[in-house]
Amino acid sequence: MPTSRDEKPALEIEITEVELPNRRPKPPDEDKLGFGIFFSDHMLHMDYQKGEGWHRVRIEPYGSLSLDPASLALHYGQQIFDGLKAFRSGEGAVRLFRPREYLERMNRSSARLCMPGVDVESTLEALRALVRIDSDWVPKKRGASLYIRPVILATEAALGVKVSDEYSFFVLTGPVGPYYAEGFNPTKILVTDRYVRAVRGGIGEVKTPGNYAASLMAAEEAYEQGYTQVLWLDACSRSYVEEVGTSNIFFYLNGVLVTPPLKGSILPGVTRRTVIELAGNWDIPVEERPISIEEVIESIGKGTLGEIFASGTAAVISPVGQIGYQGTDYTVNQGAVGELAQRLFDEITGIQYGERPDPHGWMVPVAD
Ligand SMILES: Cc1ncc(COP(=O)(O)O)c(C=O)c1O
Repeated sequence: MPTSRDEKPALEIEITEVELPNRRPKPPDEDKLGFGIFFSDHMLHMDYQKGEGWHRVRIEPYGSLSLDPASLALHYGQQIFDGLKAFRSGEGAVRLFRPREYLERMNRSSARLCMPGVDVESTLEALRALVRIDSDWVPKKRGASLYIRPVILATEAALGVKVSDEYSFFVLTGPVGPYYAEGFNPTKILVTDRYVRAVRGGIGEVKTPGNYAASLMAAEEAYEQGYTQVLWLDACSRSYVEEVGTSNIFFYLNGVLVTPPLKGSILPGVTRRTVIELAGNWDIPVEERPISIEEVIESIGKGTLGEIFASGTAAVISPVGQIGYQGTDYTVNQGAVGELAQRLFDEITGIQYGERPDPHGWMVPVAD
């Protein structure tokens, strides 16, 4: 089973199933799942100890964690997470979307925070076992899915800033609906030049809670002003676009799909990569290059910016209808869903729900 870089593999998953009468109530309506509100019956756990590696791989009933209040993660933020999804196809098969890539990203996050990585293949086996056990939690409704949240946190009890010698890995799952209340309707986003999310050389390119804590104040202020998300600019010059909320961003400019390059402050999204690969297959030119907010605003004015959309696991593709910048709202594509955003959304979700061919082998079934 999952091992760190250097230690011997554990081989078994201990399984403690929840007794039928103690099962958690299922969501009453798959049209009203929201995001991150419901949690399935079971969790995956494993423990890490320096010198021993990952061990005690187990699936247990969903429940509270027992943590020493001096656990390093609680004090100094040595903690990472990721987020992927399982989908039910029309025939009922349950499949994960690009799971290895999410686990590889989780390992990069771990490495940046001096935490042990997991063995991708055996961790994937354990994830598949978890989703199989809770497969009746995978929604049947098109548009809904099972969100999977792996977390690693530093559990050594010590009040000095140091690299922990002990970690806990756990995975929660739960049924989710579309991320935005607006569904696939275009969103209204606010460019902030007051706050920054991450700086190159920092931790912006990995999934660690501090990045999200740092984003809350800007997001709250944006909601208060009627916007859905914040569009972040680079932390140094505050002129180049980085990403939007918990998504990457794309501009369809003069027939070229432009997205900011991965230079250390942006999360390398799995959906971003999916969009780039699909655009390549469709002979749409893609440029990963710096794009300034001035260029964006100017091209909206000139009519050369056809579409803006965000990409992410939660919402897949999220068209942007309006951008607020320095007190003015700029409308993109007459506030309508763009053709390319629609085509990408249809293709990605078509593959995820097993309605379209999957030539890239992105979907991994949970059953053998
Ligand atoms: C900050 C941030 N950027 C971008 C993304 C999109 O990444 P992905 O497509 O892998 O979900 C996410 C979501 O994970 C995110 O949290």
